[in-house]
Amino acid sequence: MKKEFDRTSFHLEEQYQSLGKDKTYFIRTYGCQANVRDTETIAGILEMMGYTLASSQEEADFLLFNTCAVRRSAEEHVLGEIGKLKQLRYDNPNKVFALCGCMAQEEGVVEEIKKKYPQVDIVFGTHNLSQLPTILHAYYETHTHTFRIESTPGNIVEDLPAVRSQSYKAFTNIMYGCNKFCTYCIVPYTRGRERSRKKENILEEVVNFKNQGGKEIILLGQNVNAYGKDLGLEDGFTELLRDVAETGIDRIRFYTSHPRDYSSTSIDVMKAYPNIMNSLHLPVQSGSNEVLRRMARGYTVEHYKSLYDEMKEKIPSLTFTTDIIVGFPGETDEQFEETIQLVEYCKYDLAYTFIYSPREGTPAAKMEDDIPMEVKKQRLQKLNETVAKYSNEKNQSYLDSELLVLCEGPSKKNKEVYSGYSEENKLVNFTGKDIHAGDLVKVKITGCKSYTLDGKKII
Ligand code: SAH
Ligand code: SF4
Ligand code: F3S
Repeated sequence: MKKEFDRTSFHLEEQYQSLGKDKTYFIRTYGCQANVRDTETIAGILEMMGYTLASSQEEADFLLFNTCAVRRSAEEHVLGEIGKLKQLRYDNPNKVFALCGCMAQEEGVVEEIKKKYPQVDIVFGTHNLSQLPTILHAYYETHTHTFRIESTPGNIVEDLPAVRSQSYKAFTNIMYGCNKFCTYCIVPYTRGRERSRKKENILEEVVNFKNQGGKEIILLGQNVNAYGKDLGLEDGFTELLRDVAETGIDRIRFYTSHPRDYSSTSIDVMKAYPNIMNSLHLPVQSGSNEVLRRMARGYTVEHYKSLYDEMKEKIPSLTFTTDIIVGFPGETDEQFEETIQLVEYCKYDLAYTFIYSPREGTPAAKMEDDIPMEVKKQRLQKLNETVAKYSNEKNQSYLDSELLVLCEGPSKKNKEVYSGYSEENKLVNFTGKDIHAGDLVKVKITGCKSYTLDGKKII
């Protein structure tokens, strides 16, 4: 059995419990659900320290940017936003600005911040969340720039507080980090090695959430199918999924799956339990075996298609989404066309599509990036058009059907219209009377758009 990671429990020392008294905070979150979940934890820690939520970033005494490093464009956006805040910081000397998340784990970015963005007072890394009280204390004592960035993960910390953004839908981390080292990807460097939480801790969180009226739980990990490998479990994810389903919670989803580790047993569990939603996000990245090899994805197009066939055969109503990168170094026109052919084969409900972005320190960044940006943009456009064709067709097929939607409340634009996600993970806008956030509502679909469905509550 492999060595387990050390586990500790979060405890807020008395001296930090009133550090945030009479102070407000505001957090801006970029990137994936891992960051959304971290923001909930950070908010929980801050509120334990006495901070209260500010109504805007301008009002906040403590402003934090929880950042993403997956593509350069995401970083440039954050740096632009920090640039805009310079005046605000210097007009209000008591304000504190901090940056955390994946950008904080990049040496080059931290150097850039030190040199060009002195308005950032604190930077802390993805492995330092639970140390936030001591970090803030150190800053308030010295009022000098404070950097706390561990390059590797330490313990798995349990019993962290959380301020959930919704009372009926919650994210639960089942594992942290990633060991896959796809050649283009920075995540294994910013999030560290795979570490699984113990099943009993995860189940306790799910049961507590359900007992408080929670309806939907989303199990999170960069590669959920590898759950439990570091604990010596053979088929840990399938067993976990079954045990979470057995709690009887209304809805279960999970992100993200990796084709390399995907097991038939987890498809069987999905089929057996109606509270595991029939939607799957299975990133493919490319439809060319040669590109997949250079990406070090560890599977072939044939293997991916066989998984797709098996799933569709066992669960015909399954909705299927993916991630695709275009313009990976050396990708030829023919190889790109193979990606289009794969989209035509899988007829995705939705695909998140990206132009390859070189990330410093990754193996792909050293490969010759020989495709002109113009060509990359043309490929992205063609890919998006192909994806849209199938997602439109798929959405049209729901016309006149009845879907069960978990209501998230009235839409921002029109208070008469509610929105929420169906079991198939379709975003549905609907009308009706006596509807509240957190209700499971039966909706008849009356119209279909590219990315959303329209409907009416069935009485
Ligand atoms: N762990 C998940 C997702 C990680 S990041 C997985 O393996 O699927 C989300 C998506 O961002 C990836 O699936 C990939 O399509 C995209 N991505 C990651 N690195 C990228 C890069 N350097 N350039 C462009 N897109 C990238
Ligand atoms: Fe990145 Fe690959 Fe890990 Fe996903 S599986 S986070 S793409 S290294
Ligand atoms: Fe971005 Fe970090 Fe998630 S790089 S995609 S926030 S793990």
